[in-house]
Amino acid sequence: MARYEILGGTPLNGTITVSGAKNAAVAILPATLLVAGPCRIENVPDISDVRILLTILERMGADIQHPEENTVLIDCSGVTSTEPDAELVRKMRASYYLMGALLGRFHKAHVALPGGCNFASRPIDQHLKGFAALGADVEVTDTYVDLAPGAYDLQGGRVSLDVVSVGATVNIMIAATLLPGTTVIENAAKEPHIVDLANFLNTMGANISGAGTDTVKIRGVGALRGGTYAIIPDQIEAGTYMAAAVATGGDVLVRNVIPKHMDCITSKLEEMGAEVIDYDDAIRVRATGKLRNATVKTHPYPGFPTDMQAQICVCMALASGTSRLTESVYETRFFGYCSELESMGADIQINGKTAIITGTQKLYGATVSAHDLRAGAALVIAGLAAEGVTFVKNIHYVERGYEHLIGKLTALGAKIRRIED
Ligand code: EPU
Repeated sequence: MARYEILGGTPLNGTITVSGAKNAAVAILPATLLVAGPCRIENVPDISDVRILLTILERMGADIQHPEENTVLIDCSGVTSTEPDAELVRKMRASYYLMGALLGRFHKAHVALPGGCNFASRPIDQHLKGFAALGADVEVTDTYVDLAPGAYDLQGGRVSLDVVSVGATVNIMIAATLLPGTTVIENAAKEPHIVDLANFLNTMGANISGAGTDTVKIRGVGALRGGTYAIIPDQIEAGTYMAAAVATGGDVLVRNVIPKHMDCITSKLEEMGAEVIDYDDAIRVRATGKLRNATVKTHPYPGFPTDMQAQICVCMALASGTSRLTESVYETRFFGYCSELESMGADIQINGKTAIITGTQKLYGATVSAHDLRAGAALVIAGLAAEGVTFVKNIHYVERGYEHLIGKLTALGAKIRRIED
């Protein structure tokens, strides 16, 4: 099992380029199943979740080429299988988008229940409710989801989500794109990757409006044609490096970002004392002395993202005074990393959905374990800011979502290396 060795205490300085968004890529790649012809997808991050998805699609019969770094040419015309490799499907969360894609194209699917980061109970009832609203017959066993046409042909329908769900919004959008009639998703999620998926599908000929608002309308089209599309920059990767710059007392120019997507993160870092300057497609983040305490509550977009909860927690652990961090999307997410941070000297009391973090002067190197992707990213930040050497174990979680982490951090002056045990 590989681990990271980090010699902390060096402020990060320099320029970093953000990769394509993981959570957009893992939606767009399965959506290529709907397209009759080759898609050229650019700015695809080279991360393990993407590699697993591409392998699944290839085994289903997709023709996949990599003409250059971060570009994938994918033609799913030859796919006939509606049963993706169960073992691979169980290795990641977003493999559930294969359900919507197969349902939309073949009107049936036999897909294993997904795996991925299990920092909370992560039900998919809203996805299934959406499929049923489109006319699918949905059967769930302990290990599989089976989708088939119900009594009538599949067609557009109206779905009002009981919880704002990124995954359900995406899955229903994908499933409905080729179905006759109009589908309306109410109480839809508004994350940037939902807009990116809609832009991708519309580029290929779909008719989707309202993405980025809480009502998304999908007017079914007969077919999608191939084309070229570039994935947006990763909001959370950018936020992670911004938090790392602040926690280490550094000064970093984060390139290839959409500053608007970063607003909620930027304003919290500013409140904590960092200087943040927005450019057209870059953000400069500079620590200006001791960090100040803050109050943060996670929310669906445009709120402060749950996927930045752990990283901001490290900044709070190093701030003066007492901070409050409340999680409103996944209650149990604190358990993935707070005790690890405490072993590095952080002072965190968890009280239900809220963590009370009393800032400390210093964190100290320790051996810690990542329990999920963002928890792992937070431990890397803590290691970079800490005095002494930190070992981060279970780094396969981190590699699920951060492209070239070691290279990017090293370029900023970090002393981090990957050790194969
Ligand atoms: N929920 C339900 N039923 C459902 C779906 C969701 O009750 O059918 C609940 C969840 O339990 C949660 C809330 O609704 O409390 C929101 O979950 P959502 O469906 O939005 O999460 P997701 O689609 O499974 C995506 C990201 C996560 C990110 C969340 C929230 C992808 C592949 N994953 O997950 O990203 O935390 O949205 O923003 O897009 C990560 O990148 O590290 C990551 C975990």
